[in-house]
Amino acid sequence: MTVVKIALLGAGTVGTQVARLLSEQKEDLAARSGAQLELVGIAVRDVSAPRDPAVDRSLLTDDPESIIDEADVVIELMGGIEPARAYILRAFAAGASVVTGNKALLAAHGPELYEAAAQADVDLYYEAAVAGAVPVVYGLRESLAGDRITAVLGIVNGTTNYILDEMTVKGLDFDEALAKAQELGYAEADPTADVDGLDAAAKCAILASLAFHTRVSIDDVHVHGIRSIAKADIESAGRSGCVVKLVASAKRRPEGIELHVGPTLVPLDHPLASVRGAFNAVVIEAEAADRLMFYGPGAGGAPTASAVLSDVVAAASHKVDGGRAPRELIYGDIPVLEASRG
Ligand code: HSE
Repeated sequence: MTVVKIALLGAGTVGTQVARLLSEQKEDLAARSGAQLELVGIAVRDVSAPRDPAVDRSLLTDDPESIIDEADVVIELMGGIEPARAYILRAFAAGASVVTGNKALLAAHGPELYEAAAQADVDLYYEAAVAGAVPVVYGLRESLAGDRITAVLGIVNGTTNYILDEMTVKGLDFDEALAKAQELGYAEADPTADVDGLDAAAKCAILASLAFHTRVSIDDVHVHGIRSIAKADIESAGRSGCVVKLVASAKRRPEGIELHVGPTLVPLDHPLASVRGAFNAVVIEAEAADRLMFYGPGAGGAPTASAVLSDVVAAASHKVDGGRAPRELIYGDIPVLEASRG
């Protein structure tokens, strides 16, 4: 059986679960991909730091480049723009496909990376970058590849949904609910990105690029976070038959696209009102398919690792059969409407 060498960059909440699943599901992953997946190294900042037993310490290195150069598939879970971007470009140059969960990087440099992957004739997969385990990238990239998308909207940040839900259902205040979300591993290392809406805005930009085949960056998204939402706002929403949700919205208009992330009053009978805890839900409207809703765990180590593993199987199977991921179509720049700019 073909051996596909995997380099893992990052062993945080998600990377640890990826290492666990690569080991525990070894036989199933081989059967699905047609390749034996061999983890050749795990790059971390501090090799001596305490680790979950799922991480094989003998694979730890603080030299990412050495394992990138050896790999057929690189899993990038470091986060941030640099050096993650440089490592991904290095992987492409070395002929490796890349699986990433890096929404900040894709929201800033997605089209450049799609182009670099295409030039190198390798895959770039990023299901884990948006909505955790929910296969919304697959939905847009593959299931709806023959359709024309008119709108994408939904709840794409688990931390803020968890916080708003705890405030609504249990009457917690903002800080208490945020502390619980951090304990459960939903929040980013710096939860500012979650509560100020920047994480949702990055995901909104990625989804809009994919849906509308244009260059959208996080700077194009008009953002309001939830920091200023008080218990009184939640109670007032309840009295008018609504819940407060952080909703991301990307809509195609005849004159351009509208992009927005912000706290929204959602009527209780709307499907997004029932999205609980750290779950995410994304509604996609397409001309032929009509309206579809994707729903499931949007954050957390194991659900996000599940999305990473599905991409690893696809990338590895392409190493075996010579296939390629569907190419992102970037037709050009569709105007982002001024009213929706931040
Ligand atoms: N902090 C993110 C969230 C993790 O809460 O949704 C998943 O991207």
